[in-house]
Amino acid sequence: MQLLPKQENAVYYLKDNVTTEILYGGAAGGGKSALGCLWLIEMCQNYQGSRWLMGRSKLKTLKETTLNTFFDISAKLGITDQYTYNDKDSAIYWHNGSEIILKDLFLYPADKNFDSLGSLEITGAFIDECNQVVLKAWQVVKSRCRYKLDEFGVIPKVFGSCNPAKNWVYSQFYHPSRKKELLPYRRFIQALPTDNPHLPNVYLKSLLEMDENSKQRLYYGNWEYDDDPAALIDFRKLQDLFTNEFAYGGLMYITADIARFGRDKTVIGVWCGFRLIKMVELGKSSITECSQKIRELAVKYEVPMSHTIVDEDGVGGGVVDILNCEGFVNNSRPLDNPETMEPENYMNLKSQMYFALAKAINDSKMWIQCDEGSIKDLIIQELEQVKQHNMDKDGKKQVLPKDIVKELLGRSPDYADMIMMRMWFEYRFKFEFSIG
Ligand SMILES: Nc1ncnc2c1ncn2[C@@H]1O[C@H](COP(=O)(O)OP(=O)(O)OP(=O)(O)O)[C@@H](O)[C@H]1O
Ligand SMILES: [Mg+2]
Repeated sequence: MQLLPKQENAVYYLKDNVTTEILYGGAAGGGKSALGCLWLIEMCQNYQGSRWLMGRSKLKTLKETTLNTFFDISAKLGITDQYTYNDKDSAIYWHNGSEIILKDLFLYPADKNFDSLGSLEITGAFIDECNQVVLKAWQVVKSRCRYKLDEFGVIPKVFGSCNPAKNWVYSQFYHPSRKKELLPYRRFIQALPTDNPHLPNVYLKSLLEMDENSKQRLYYGNWEYDDDPAALIDFRKLQDLFTNEFAYGGLMYITADIARFGRDKTVIGVWCGFRLIKMVELGKSSITECSQKIRELAVKYEVPMSHTIVDEDGVGGGVVDILNCEGFVNNSRPLDNPETMEPENYMNLKSQMYFALAKAINDSKMWIQCDEGSIKDLIIQELEQVKQHNMDKDGKKQVLPKDIVKELLGRSPDYADMIMMRMWFEYRFKFEFSIG
């Protein structure tokens, strides 16, 4: 198989002695998956007894897409008799002793640190559509690359394919590469569909017929177009949340999202003004235990119960009763604007507070103190889903309903909800601020 020029370029870095992280792509159809598979095939053949990871956000999708590309390519190369695929093990066993292990790299809340990859030892890895996994997944995979490296005389390599996305692939690869500030062990290669003569013409035509946003991203490889017009929080401002140490302090507050039936996580935040200075996550726990923890934090940080709010839907109501604190009812009526005392046009309280939160973040008013990368990732993922629902329709403003957000995230947005509730006090206690 003759490589495309961009693929050749990537292969150079896949083989050098300097580059350990290579990102390839930034549009559709540029031969990303094909190159990843070709690389793994060549590595498995050249280094007998080596072990490689082929990963994607969801194993199911990996098997339906990337793995098929692997089969196509090995058929084209006439080498299908050199390995056996075992679906149960999710592994490709080469007859020369090499292995490719297929992995699910989705961030599951129960395994935030990817401990499930902990015992894995690999020689290198290919992550397809790596913009769909979190940075931590990429880092953990890289940290597992050590299997027989010395024996083969190679260095660890993680190869990722991606489409333009305003997340870590942008901030760690695309943006630094544009500014010529990319770390020396990283490479970014922009591949476009027009680079690939093997694509059917009708495919290029259909890319051009997509909506403007998708066309810009997937055909032209335009990284600045990932902005979903419905997203309420600016991508860069979302990153800033964790470095805005200058945000104003002030009165103390506690906001808490209590585990609902069937869910097992409670998230509590302690605020000093707009500075979220402490986050506590509780596993499965009773109403009494949650209340106790909140009371303990309230005493320690000197937060009055009138400055403490707990989501009242589901079991949170019990906590509100025990503590005699404030209760937040998502679907209740929006509050009047604290300045004008006029009603605001929102579908419900939750939508109103999320719009207010988006404004506070876009105005660089808020700071989240968070040293733990995996929690930061969860927060960013959740706040990225703060979007206007039914934008094209007139009427009351609304954010994406919870069931859609849950489907997109694969979990409940517990951190985002906890953070959003902070805005309630801006509506509730405006009077204090105006005289203070
Ligand atoms: N060097 C090559 N020689 C021949 N065919 C190739 C080559 N590279 C890619 N192709 C073919 O081009 C098509 C698109 O490649 P591939 O699926 O790897 O693209 P992609 O960038 O992963 O696309 P997507 O954005 O859809 O994931 C496939 O049919 C693939 O087999
Ligand atoms: Mg692909």
